[in-house]
Amino acid sequence: MASIGIFDSGYGGLTVFKSIAARMPEYNYIYLGDNARAPYGNRSFETVYEYTLECVEWLFAAGCELVILACNTASAKALRTIQQHDLPRLGAEKRVLGVIRPTAEVVGQYSRSKHIGILGTMGTVQSESYLIEIKNFAPDMEVQQHACPLWVPLVEANAYQTEAAQLIIRSDVSQLLEQDEQIDAILLACTHYPILTPILQQFVPDSVSIISQGELVADSLADYLQRHPEMETRMDKNGAELFFTTGDAGDFEAHASLFFGKEIKARTCNVVKK
Ligand code: DGL
Repeated sequence: MASIGIFDSGYGGLTVFKSIAARMPEYNYIYLGDNARAPYGNRSFETVYEYTLECVEWLFAAGCELVILACNTASAKALRTIQQHDLPRLGAEKRVLGVIRPTAEVVGQYSRSKHIGILGTMGTVQSESYLIEIKNFAPDMEVQQHACPLWVPLVEANAYQTEAAQLIIRSDVSQLLEQDEQIDAILLACTHYPILTPILQQFVPDSVSIISQGELVADSLADYLQRHPEMETRMDKNGAELFFTTGDAGDFEAHASLFFGKEIKARTCNVVKK
């Protein structure tokens, strides 16, 4: 029997895992954060692919048959290559899914004006993955993007409440909204950003809604499992949640509750094959 793997470069994927576990508490989950090598946002395609593949292989070896890349940067830069190039070798019945497509499918529903803004890492924005995917599902949607390269380091270092951080965040939000005054919905296209929602709300007009991905990805996964009984029936259903980090387990435990909403126990692992 198998577990569902949830992968992120660090803590951010815990915001997605929280929604998934709330929606489907019955399954067994293994979370892996590559904190030792986070952030991924400014890294090259090759490096994000190499790191993500190592983590996916580790999760498969740990007993996962289905892995969710709960990281936009990894979904943008590594998902397709892993699906097309590596999965046939790693196991034809195994699956790796990302967060960009399920978000792009429904994000249009959150905007009345059909003008939305996207905030993400440099990697996600430069990949243009959201522009491409949203065009597929909602061709009439106007989409503006802005990269916020300092936000993940601020969140990972728990320094986002400082005055300097707030200035940076405010400036990034303004730079997005200045691109199109009709924007009425901002998608947080990085799993670290939901932590910043209370701060962001101070910097956007009341008419602009802020969209986090957790619930969208959880809905999409529930739908996927319903449509794929051959996968669903292979899943263990003891409600177990295991947490691994490539970084320091104590640090991970100390930060995780902020993202996950409850205390957790973590273990350090090494994903690099010797
Ligand atoms: N949380 C990840 C994302 O959604 C990546 C952040 C990073 O490591 O830069 O993009």
